[in-house]
Amino acid sequence: MTDVHAGAVHHEETPLTVGVVAESGADERRVALVPKAVASLIGQGLAVVVEPGAGARALLPDASYIAAGATTGDAWSADVVLKVAPPSDAEVARLRRGQTLIGHLAPRDAENQIAALTGAGVQAFAVEAIPRISRAQAMDALSSQANVAGYKAVLVAASESTRFFPMLTTAAGTVKPATVLVLGVGVAGLQALATARRLGARTTGYDVRPEVADQVRSVGASWLDLEIHAAGEGGYARELTAEERVQQQRALEKAIAASDVVITTALVPGRPAPRLVTAAAVEAMRPGSVVVDLAGETGGNCELTEPGQTVTRHGVTICSPMNLPATMPEHSSELYSKNLTALLELIITDSAVAPDFSDEILAAACVSRCLPADREMNEHV
Ligand code: NAI
Repeated sequence: MTDVHAGAVHHEETPLTVGVVAESGADERRVALVPKAVASLIGQGLAVVVEPGAGARALLPDASYIAAGATTGDAWSADVVLKVAPPSDAEVARLRRGQTLIGHLAPRDAENQIAALTGAGVQAFAVEAIPRISRAQAMDALSSQANVAGYKAVLVAASESTRFFPMLTTAAGTVKPATVLVLGVGVAGLQALATARRLGARTTGYDVRPEVADQVRSVGASWLDLEIHAAGEGGYARELTAEERVQQQRALEKAIAASDVVITTALVPGRPAPRLVTAAAVEAMRPGSVVVDLAGETGGNCELTEPGQTVTRHGVTICSPMNLPATMPEHSSELYSKNLTALLELIITDSAVAPDFSDEILAAACVSRCLPADREMNEHV
C-alpha cells in the first residue's frame, strides 16, 4: 500500500502521486491509465497508485501495473486523480482540498458537480473542454474516443443488417454493395465512413460544415451537398434555424430512403442532438435497413430513436448504443491513457502540479481552478 499525502508539500521522499481509480459505471470497462504509461510517469519522478481492480475490465490486472512500477492502494487520495467517466456525487465527495481531478467531467451538464469541486478546493480539468487546436491533438480524448465509436458503429450496423456490405460475385449470384450514408462527419463520422468503405460498402457523407467535403472524399466516400451551411465556433456546427431544419429533413429524406444503412453522429455543443432522420424518412427506407444513431445521449438524430435501445420500426432496425468506446476497452483505454499523459505533461512541472494558465489549452480545460494546497499555503505566507 502506498501512503498518499494529498496536497502535501512535496519533498523528494514524498513524490507527487498520480491515482488511477476504478470506474463505477456498470458498463464502463475503460481505465484512465494503462501500465505502459506508468513507467514514463515514474521516470518523471512521480508515483502511481492504482485502485485494486481498476484495469480489470480492460483486461489489465493489478499485477501488470505493479510490474510497471505502480503500487495498489487508495487512488482517490492521490495528488492527481485520473478518471474516465464523469464522477458520481459520492465520488466527488471523496476528493479533498489540494487534489487535482482529470477526466471526462461533462462541464456543460454537470454544473453542480463542478461547483462542488470548486467549493471543496479541488482543481479539475475536463477533457471535453480541451480546445480543438493542432497543439492539443495528442490530448484530444473526444477525438480518440470518437474514433472508436465511429468504427464500432459500423460493426453494429453490419451485424444488425440483413444484407452484405461488400459486393459479392458468387456462383449463386451477384450481390450489390450496401449503401451507407453517414450524417454528421466529425471524427466519429469520418471513421465510420472509412470503416464502412473497408467493409466494401458504397459510402456517402453529409455535414453542415462544407469544409468537411474534402475529408469525406479522402476516405473514398461521395459528398452530399444540400447547401445548408452552418459552421459555428471552435470548429463545431451551429444549431440550424427552424426553417433550415425543415429544409434539411426534406432534402435528406430521399438520400436516407436510398440507403441500406444510415449512421448518424451529428452533435451541436450544449444543444439537443439535431433531428436529421424523421419518422417519415425511416418509413421510406427498405425493410431490413439499419439506422445506428450515435447521438442517443443527447436525444438522438433520428425521431424514432430510443436512447440505449435497439428497436424495429417500419421494418427498419434503429440502434442507439451508448458509450461504444467502453465496448472496446483495450484500445480505447490505451488511446485515452496517451491523451491524459500528454495533458499531464502540461500540468506537471518538476514533479509538482503547476499549470500555466497563460496556456490556452490549460485555461480552457481547467473547469475548477483552485491552487494546490502547498502553493496556497506559500501564497498566503
Ligand atoms: P461533433 O461531435 O461536435 O459533431 C459531429 C458532426 O456533426 C460535426 O461534423 C458537425 O458539423 C455535425 N453536425 C452538427 N449539426 C449537424 C446538422 N444539423 N446536420 C449535419 N451535421 C451536423 O464534432 P467532432 O467530431 O467533435 O469535431 C468537431 C470539430 O473539431 C471539427 O471541426 C473537427 O474537424 C475538429 N477537430 C479538430 C481537432 C484538432 O485540430 N485538434 C481534432 C478533432 C476534431
